[in-house]
Amino acid sequence: MTHAKYLKRAAGFLGLTALLVACASGKDEMLLSGYDYAIAETQAMQDDDIDNPAFIFYDIGEDQWSKVDGDAGKSCAECHGADGSSLKGVSISYPKYNEEDGKLRAIQDEINNCRTKRMKAKAWKWESDNMLGMAIFVKKQSRGMPLNVSIAGKAAPFYEKGKAFYNERRGGLDLACKHCHTDYAGMHIRANVLTSGLPNGFPTYRLKWQKPGSLHRRFRGCNTNVRSEPYKQGSDEYTNLELYLSHRANGLPNETPSVRN
Ligand code: HEC
Ligand code: HEC
Repeated sequence: MTHAKYLKRAAGFLGLTALLVACASGKDEMLLSGYDYAIAETQAMQDDDIDNPAFIFYDIGEDQWSKVDGDAGKSCAECHGADGSSLKGVSISYPKYNEEDGKLRAIQDEINNCRTKRMKAKAWKWESDNMLGMAIFVKKQSRGMPLNVSIAGKAAPFYEKGKAFYNERRGGLDLACKHCHTDYAGMHIRANVLTSGLPNGFPTYRLKWQKPGSLHRRFRGCNTNVRSEPYKQGSDEYTNLELYLSHRANGLPNETPSVRN
């Protein structure tokens, strides 16, 4: 079996698993990934690591992984191992409540925490090539694994805030995320089919952007489209929203790096 075929089969299997997980956990809705709504060409591009243009950024992440940076004279590889496989299964439970910060950390926050505190290196900007590359590199270690985000305990209030944000009308068009991605999922909006707006492929290579972008960049786009003021990448508002959406997508396979149009 070719690699791409294997991945497709694995994805199909995971889709079935997601359905069973959804039933077992008493979820009232079975959501599809953005992948399932994409046209065949876009799916094929995602399925083939050679054709998937996001892998240029995976390579940037891989280079940075073993690069010594900062005053402590360390690289990620020195502490986490040469090839990144020690982080298998890590990203699927993010965003996660962090005691030290008293709030959520997205995977990007975790990367910058290691850079600033453990490497004494400069934090990377959220949408920089290095951060996109490293977020892709780290999340790719868990590709195919079902999202498994917890909203128990101290994460609960952040989940509630994210949920409120999702359901709140905003902007000149007075629309909530919910109106498009829950009520109208599967319908056409101009040239696009509306999906459930899930985060399981991010950072994604977006054909329209001609490069990978973060989930928070996508949020900014969706906010701007209804003519509301976007928040910053890495803001508490967007990280809470990411928790809400990730929990909504629990059980779906992590596709990073995905391709979308
Ligand atoms: C000096 C050692 C050190 C360096 C260098 C370092 N880390 Fe870490 N990192 C740790 C420790 C210790 C933890 C917390 C314990 C753990 O989860 O392994 C951690 C946690 C993490 C986590 C969260 C793990 C989890 O289980 O939730 C990620 C992701 C991560 N590091 C990525 C990186 C990346 C990417 C780099 C390079 C940019 C890096 N780290 C550099 C020591 C280091
Ligand atoms: C006016 C309708 C509309 C509203 C309101 C809207 N979006 Fe979107 N969104 C879209 C369209 C169109 C796309 C591209 C097609 C798709 O993936 O649904 C999209 C894509 C997305 C994606 C990418 C999904 C993927 O698989 O790549 C996410 C995530 C997302 N939106 C989240 C949100 C969030 C969160 C909000 C609220 C802050 C929101 N959207 C509000 C129309 C909307």
